[in-house]
Amino acid sequence: MYKVDHLGIAVKSIASARRFYEQLGLAVVGEEVVEHEKVRAAMLPVGETRFELLEPTSEDSVIAKFIAKRGEGLHHVAVHVNDISATFEDLKRRGVRLISDEIKVGAGGHLYIFVHPSATGGVLLELCQDPISAV
Ligand code: CO
Repeated sequence: MYKVDHLGIAVKSIASARRFYEQLGLAVVGEEVVEHEKVRAAMLPVGETRFELLEPTSEDSVIAKFIAKRGEGLHHVAVHVNDISATFEDLKRRGVRLISDEIKVGAGGHLYIFVHPSATGGVLLELCQDPISAV
């Protein structure tokens, strides 16, 4: 049920960051703009998980703010769950601090929420579920 779905990495430029990963032998399999997050995301499979390169498309993107404050680097860890609605309701009921007040739809149609680092030992944690059509 649980697995590390991907690691989100904030970069200034996907075009330049991907060169290193491609030299390493990894390949970008999908790239798309997620309008409501103001990011361009590129996925690179790494064994059973993936790296998600995140490039801001706007100055007021959360990724732009992250890079301005902390520089490029690891932004979040995403764990796959089978039933994100149940997980979301359960966390809310327990009073866990969430970033998302609703379940969102991301690149490729997957569903996700973010849990605040204050609840997770300092890691911005994404919980995600495959697109409904793929379940
Ligand atoms: Co992510």
